[in-house]
Amino acid sequence: MSVSKEIRKVTTNTLQKMKVAGEKISMLTAYDYSFAKIFDQAGIDVILVGDSASNVMAGYETTLPITLEHMIYHASSVIRGVNRCLVVVDLPFGSYQSNSEIALASAIRIMKETGAHAIKLEGGEEEIDCVKRIVSAGIPVMGHLGLTPQSIYKFGTYNVRAKEEAEANKLKKDAKLLEEAGCFGIVLEKIPALLAKEVSESLIIPTIGIGAGNHCNGQVLVMHDMLGINTEFKPRFLRKYLNAFEQVSGAVQQYISDVKTGDFPNEGESY
Ligand code: KIV
Repeated sequence: MSVSKEIRKVTTNTLQKMKVAGEKISMLTAYDYSFAKIFDQAGIDVILVGDSASNVMAGYETTLPITLEHMIYHASSVIRGVNRCLVVVDLPFGSYQSNSEIALASAIRIMKETGAHAIKLEGGEEEIDCVKRIVSAGIPVMGHLGLTPQSIYKFGTYNVRAKEEAEANKLKKDAKLLEEAGCFGIVLEKIPALLAKEVSESLIIPTIGIGAGNHCNGQVLVMHDMLGINTEFKPRFLRKYLNAFEQVSGAVQQYISDVKTGDFPNEGESY
């Protein structure tokens, strides 16, 4: 039986029940009211207001420039579009790394000013104090391990992470620490499928994979990538469900032509 089909509102408890029942969790990013409404009505379990907004909405090269104010704007727009799904919001770079007090203040702003249901932050052992402090204030926290784009200048590339034993061992330890600190789930980004399987099986809480194989308890993709809006990004893990760039471009070209030829508006489209 499907856990999520019986549910009117998805909560962190629902995700836990889905893991126990062996039902995969579907998660997509969204950044505005209109797409959030489509995704929610289509039945998505979780919307992530990702700091990937920095790339796909604002056109920056990395996720580093986006601010807490920008994230609050995106998240509050998303929240107005949804009824059923759980909405998780990324704490942006610089809004939590300094200390746990600042992290809590940032998380509180997100919850208070957007109406979102949970926050996500990147990192393991280094961020455990932040996670504990935020969780103890009653705010659900999702972790994020593996390729953590806020650390891109430390890594130097967007290549697969944790291929070597030492990094894989650290990731396994970090995952356990995040679970013990109270995280309700962990995103595993761009790591070997076997490692993701081992981590997923070792945890009670669900894992959500992106480029982490098929053994995670759920999957997430960036909406602009899976809808084919962003045409330059073609990693192996991405499956495209639409060629929106071409289709939207075709519709706009048709509109331009109809305006130029005087075909639009016709009599039925006039008062
Ligand atoms: O910001 C984002 O979109 C993310 C996903 C890639 C997991 O963190």
